[in-house]
Amino acid sequence: MEQNKQDKLDRLREEVLACTACQLHKTRTNVVFGEGSPDAKLMFIGEAPGYWEDQQGRPFVGSAGKVLDKLLASIGLSRSEVYIANVLKCRPPKNREPRPEEIKACTPFLDRQMAIIRPRMICTLGNYSTSYVLGKFGIKAGSMSSVHGRVYRCSSLLLGEVLVIPTYHPATVLYKPYMMDTIKKDWEVIESVYKSL
Ligand code: URA
Repeated sequence: MEQNKQDKLDRLREEVLACTACQLHKTRTNVVFGEGSPDAKLMFIGEAPGYWEDQQGRPFVGSAGKVLDKLLASIGLSRSEVYIANVLKCRPPKNREPRPEEIKACTPFLDRQMAIIRPRMICTLGNYSTSYVLGKFGIKAGSMSSVHGRVYRCSSLLLGEVLVIPTYHPATVLYKPYMMDTIKKDWEVIESVYKSL
């Protein structure tokens, strides 16, 4: 592991733990910084911590996380090989949707995480991370039904060349189980792109 990247992430984590830039710091139990390999070629970006993530300070440890773990296993990957983060690092009360001012306050941290890790591939989970990440590259994300499973070749000075693949948030299957087939097809794309890196 490149020690430099781990050190940079550790220093960034300290900053995020002390963050009071938006109102969510008042109601959080724990900051959910993100976790995984600093050398990950593939980074997943979700929306925001939910109840269990807030309790444990770790991303995707609740019911959506169980779906994510299954999808990861289905393509032969474990959490320790990838990096998992969110658009927001603190839980919105009652799991309400992120507000524009919270996204604005928090995403500089996500930008720095991405710039440290420099993944070759980013898989965005759900609408918020998809519109944020594609927006960074000047792409206006349409509806999830029109962008999911597509491979966007993006590049920037900070991130270099990166392939962005949007897909549905894993929580989708909790209330729409019939979406699993569609999501699995997206993950087949993720697997084949990952193997081609
Ligand atoms: N949903 C998310 O978007 N992120 C988490 O960490 C958990 C649930």
